Amino acid sequence: MAYLLDKAYWGQGLATEAVQGILQYGFEQLKLSRMICLMDPENIASQRVAEKMGMSLERKVDGIDGDNFPTLIYAINK
Ligand SMILES: CC(C)(COP(=O)(O)OP(=O)(O)OC[C@H]1O[C@@H](n2cnc3c(N)ncnc32)[C@H](O)[C@@H]1OP(=O)(O)O)[C@@H](O)C(=O)NCCC(=O)NCCS
Repeated sequence: MAYLLDKAYWGQGLATEAVQGILQYGFEQLKLSRMICLMDPENIASQRVAEKMGMSLERKVDGIDGDNFPTLIYAINK
């Protein structure tokens, strides 16, 4: 999953609320068994949102498909 909010709405808990809805939809409606987020190691707000929703840092990779951008993989299983 990916999340992006207009800056005017940051810091009010809205992303956390949205992610809660996304997780619920993914697990209950789509019957997914696992969901992940890919994020920039410097994006603390994004990491915090994932952690608040019970996601865990699974690993850090040096890039995805050769893009050479260090990336954190957060995941949650049903
Ligand atoms: C990431 C993003 C969606 C967060 O939206 P938001 O509605 O502000 O998030 P929330 O308010 O639900 O939660 C943010 C949390 O991060 C924390 N936080 C934000 N900036 C922080 C910082 N620099 N250092 C430490 N914590 C920080 C907040 O305090 C809050 O945690 P808390 O509830 O424990 O206090 C928003 O910043 C955004 O759209 N960013 C641009 C797009 C992006 O980076 N998307 C993620 C790509 S992986």
